[in-house]
Amino acid sequence: MSTAPRRFTERYPEEGSDPIPVERYTSPDYFALERDRVFRRKWLNVGHVLQAPKPGDYFVQELKIVDTSLLIIHGKDGRYRAFHNMCSHRGAPVAWDAQGSCRGYLACRFHGWVYDTTGKLVQISDAANFPGVKAEENGLTAVHCEVWKGFIFVNLAKEPEESLLDYLGPVADEIGRFDFEGFTPAFSYRIDEAVNWKTLQEAQLEGWHLPYLHEKTLARAVKVDGNQYRHAAIELYGLHGVLGSPPPDSFTPPPTALLASRFGTGTVQAFGTKTEAEGDGYRFRGSFDFWHIFPNFFVGLLNGLFFTFNIWPQAVDRSIWEIKGYYPPVKTAGELFAREYSKVGLRDPMMEDCFTHELICAQLKSGAKSHIHFQDEEMLARHLGNGVDRCVRGLA
Ligand code: FES
Ligand SMILES: [Fe+2]
Repeated sequence: MSTAPRRFTERYPEEGSDPIPVERYTSPDYFALERDRVFRRKWLNVGHVLQAPKPGDYFVQELKIVDTSLLIIHGKDGRYRAFHNMCSHRGAPVAWDAQGSCRGYLACRFHGWVYDTTGKLVQISDAANFPGVKAEENGLTAVHCEVWKGFIFVNLAKEPEESLLDYLGPVADEIGRFDFEGFTPAFSYRIDEAVNWKTLQEAQLEGWHLPYLHEKTLARAVKVDGNQYRHAAIELYGLHGVLGSPPPDSFTPPPTALLASRFGTGTVQAFGTKTEAEGDGYRFRGSFDFWHIFPNFFVGLLNGLFFTFNIWPQAVDRSIWEIKGYYPPVKTAGELFAREYSKVGLRDPMMEDCFTHELICAQLKSGAKSHIHFQDEEMLARHLGNGVDRCVRGLA
């Protein structure tokens, strides 16, 4: 029997090769430790500056795993800040809409206390009846917030253990070479799934399943040896990592994709064609590079577009998957067609993934198996579980 070369296991022996306990996906106790030792401590991406492009714009991000909802606001001074979306009077939300814009002040709808975009309480309604309450002591409760390359991150610790840039480490330099200028939010999907948050991510952390599960969709845009997909690269950077997807030797898009690609970027063709770096530009490992920023954020880079995933645990067996695509602005009907085609092209394999996630989650609870397995090409999925487990055990 021949054995495939263990490219990644040999390069990263510290990741091990043992089976993975199923309990990590099903145990409420383990999930509680993930909440406290991962989500309450690590930097979390909550969105992009393009969700609040003008001063006074804001959006709300629910973080159910840590029992809060955050208000992210673009201050009149140009700075982005994050606060718990909670009025200091009796706890009502200050922003009621998922997204909005204000002229510099937000008024609580319950009894009208007013806050400015720096979180300062500037008006207490019926102030004479609150003799002991000082405005300067009752602003919104701030959360650490930093912006990198347009991506907004928060940290829920009282004092973060490191800055966002230190947390990202070499990943910041690598991804930072991608030219993020000139994109606009093109579409988003939000999927509420009955699945553990790691199971959901594991399907995005390996391309090996493409020729199987995505036989009719994405498989044509990747290189397959026999029936086996081999990553162009898997690289680990601390808790983070990247996979590069190999372009096929020759790529014939289906006729509609070919038509769409005449008008714009982002068709299945972008998955199928590798771009070489120019100058100091971004160095593609494959035709499509998928970065995983621990614990729950993905940035997918392709020629002419990028997209992001945020996976938000709701319970040990429930997660929300947010997908956002960023494309160049559309100016013609043809470009609109290309973009819409691309959007649907992404949706279909996502649905194939979702269907599988929920079946896996349901079955893992059966107790029929105590362990699951990851092979060499599933190194990045193993790496996520290892990173989480190291945090849970107080080692990272
Ligand atoms: S709860 Fe906000 S003003 Fe009363
Ligand atoms: Fe998939």
